[in-house]
Amino acid sequence: MKRMAIFASGTGSNFQAIVDAVQKGSLQATIALLICDKPEAPVVEKAKRANIPVFTFKPKEFASKAVFESLICKQLQDAKVDFIVLAGYMRLIGPTLLQAYPNKIINLHPSLLPAFPGKEAIKQAFQAGVKITGITIHYVDEGMDTGPIIAQEAVAIHDDDTLFDVERKIHQVEHIFYPQTLQKLCLTEYEEEFT
Ligand code: GRF
Repeated sequence: MKRMAIFASGTGSNFQAIVDAVQKGSLQATIALLICDKPEAPVVEKAKRANIPVFTFKPKEFASKAVFESLICKQLQDAKVDFIVLAGYMRLIGPTLLQAYPNKIINLHPSLLPAFPGKEAIKQAFQAGVKITGITIHYVDEGMDTGPIIAQEAVAIHDDDTLFDVERKIHQVEHIFYPQTLQKLCLTEYEEEFT
């Protein structure tokens, strides 16, 4: 079974959706480790409840991104991680991790990329007045939300939707679609992508 590390910084609702899918057996993979750059984030508690090992760190305590990413690499190697799943990890992945895990880092972004990259993507789409937004699952490269797209799912914005409504709809779709897509990747793309 493939071993993943999940990187997250915040609430961890997508982390939880992935844990639930693994526990149900609809995602056949092992969550080897949670990597979190905010030791106080709610996602840490969720991992502990699920008995998933956690590595937390404070970026400010390191001289550079290269230094803390080297430490992360060591954790990933010790945990025999095959691929990395970003779920609300609020940092750009640097060259150290990209070189160590080429084509093996996957991100979830709450818009239909290439529209609305970066922070507050749901709000950006809402304020732009688009009628269709959605989510994108993509491989990570050195850019901000720019790597090759794996899958997308649309979400309609109705005239009477508030920003809160759109956020809720986006998260619902994320929680279903991210574990499903990871399962497809584990089954079908393993031989090509994860070698
Ligand atoms: C999600 O909307 C995801 O698309 C984005 O960050 C958010 C994380 O939410 N990258 P959560 O921590 O999983 O609840």
